[in-house]
Amino acid sequence: MTNRTFTMIKPDATEKGHTGGILQMINEAGFRIVAMKMTHLSKEKAGQFYEVHKERPFYGELVEFMSRGPITAAILEKENAVEEFRKLIGATNPAQAAEGTIRKKYASSIGENAVHGSDSDENAAIEGAFFFSRLEQF
Ligand code: CMP
Repeated sequence: MTNRTFTMIKPDATEKGHTGGILQMINEAGFRIVAMKMTHLSKEKAGQFYEVHKERPFYGELVEFMSRGPITAAILEKENAVEEFRKLIGATNPAQAAEGTIRKKYASSIGENAVHGSDSDENAAIEGAFFFSRLEQF
């Protein structure tokens, strides 16, 4: 268990103007923002980020979607961060997300699900390093 996780506010949430509302939920849940940037992933970069899903049937759709518009990437700190953040965002499919979760409030489908959250400490470190150098983490 480490105290950091990685998140992205995805293009659907950015387009709908939900970035501020999502960051507020993150702050109110007690996460500290260690690093943050708004950026627009190229198809190549989105494909690299989601390389682990390369063999899945939805990979092409996922890469198209994640490169459709700007995202906000961030590293977050809290005790037991990976698990706590996955509780805060809710199930991948918003139809199954619990009340009070970010996806229940802001996501529209399993593909366009507003936010990403790392699924393990190992992936949190890999994903954070994909976007931020050590000098950009506070
Ligand atoms: P995320 O938590 O970012 O990790 C992988 C992403 O793949 C997931 O959120 C969804 O956006 C997407 N995804 C997962 N399952 C499906 C699916 N069945 N159809 C389309 N996209 C999916």
